[in-house]
Amino acid sequence: MAKARFSRIGFILAAAGAAVGLGNIWKFPYITGMYGGGAFVSIYLITVVLIGFSLLAGEMLVGYKGGKDAVSSFEIVAPEGKKGWKYAGFMLFSGLIIMTFYSVVIGWIFHYIYLSLTNSLPTDINQAKETFDNLVQFSPVTATLWHFLATVFVAVVLLGGVKAGIEKANLILMPLLLVILVGLLGYAMSFDGFSKALHFMFAPDWSKINSEAIVRAVGHAFFTLSIGIGTMVTYAASMSHKQSVFKAAMWVTILDTLIALIAGVMIYSFIFEYGASAAQGPGLVFKTLPIVLTKMGTTGIVISIVFFLALAFAGLTSAISLTEPAVEYFMQRFHFSRVKSVVLNTSLYFIVGIGAILSYTKEYGKTFSIGDKPLFDALEFSTDSILLPLGGLAIAIFVGYVLKEQDREHIIKHQVNHTIYKIWLFSLKFVAPAAIIFMMLNNFGIIKI
Ligand code: PHE
Repeated sequence: MAKARFSRIGFILAAAGAAVGLGNIWKFPYITGMYGGGAFVSIYLITVVLIGFSLLAGEMLVGYKGGKDAVSSFEIVAPEGKKGWKYAGFMLFSGLIIMTFYSVVIGWIFHYIYLSLTNSLPTDINQAKETFDNLVQFSPVTATLWHFLATVFVAVVLLGGVKAGIEKANLILMPLLLVILVGLLGYAMSFDGFSKALHFMFAPDWSKINSEAIVRAVGHAFFTLSIGIGTMVTYAASMSHKQSVFKAAMWVTILDTLIALIAGVMIYSFIFEYGASAAQGPGLVFKTLPIVLTKMGTTGIVISIVFFLALAFAGLTSAISLTEPAVEYFMQRFHFSRVKSVVLNTSLYFIVGIGAILSYTKEYGKTFSIGDKPLFDALEFSTDSILLPLGGLAIAIFVGYVLKEQDREHIIKHQVNHTIYKIWLFSLKFVAPAAIIFMMLNNFGIIKI
């Protein structure tokens, strides 16, 4: 049977669905708040353009040419004598590790959809803390049930395969997500808080920037574009060969960045309109936003339902893309049926995810810790700060140095002009590795500026 392939728009939406996730709507706004706004956003944007985009196109190229799961694709694309590069494909397991906590956070979002629907969102800061802590620290069973629901959703979509599952879910969810976010932004434009939000997000105050802020901005650029875990290799393996890798990567970068910026401006318009402060950390959308919205009466309830739905859609389409690389790997390398592979992989992260949930509880926190880090944080740190940058570095070196010039040219050179091709290659060969190494050394405290 011929392999099912994405349609053009299906591929762009699926890859954008992978990229646009909790990273854009939950994480980007709060880290922007933590590091003071405009200057942080500027560094993030520069990284996306100079490094993120190049790596994304590079990663897609491997899948486009390899046409298989991540490990096989690296093996096929690597020149003779360098087939050991297939091990770079093991980056796909980072996706499962991310899923252990990503699915838990999607579960929290489900809980907040439920709270919105039953009109039981918190109305002041103490209540907001209590509601969130109650879920995270004292209700592991509830959190596990929501985590289970998120897992089932991902499994059902993946069982449908590339076309009937992944493409279809993205064709429905991504436009809905866009409509909701643009609608909310339109509404927020009528606020006085809107111009404050614009100022906060786009007027850089460079005094707020230190090396930690730079590292977080660079790290986030990787995470948000889904680079370095084999997602884009796996998806691009099913793209149509009539489609341009370069253009597709461009669209995905534009959509991903646009959605992060819309989410940031929209959320901060609400926050500033009601006088809340920006530096709230991870609780921004779970604690601060609900209080602001409940102040708005019925309209606020409707907005909160729609907002948390959008967040769930964004999270689910990414979750699908975090799991599919492992699913394809077991299907192609070990000849598992899709059903068997989906059940195996989703069960794996589901079970470890329960450990992540317990690690945040008062009762079992100690048991589920690694050193002094709760398992949840340890899993996040190991992916964010170690595995993703390593995956990105592998791609930069593989596509920049190992791949034969003619293979690179064959795909990319037809699709862009010579100068852009040279800039792209320069970024892969020099800028990306330098930035990644700087970031990793900094994460381990080896260098500080
Ligand atoms: N890019 C997704 C987000 O922003 C997360 C993700 C990372 C998805 C890596 C797939 C691969 O939430």
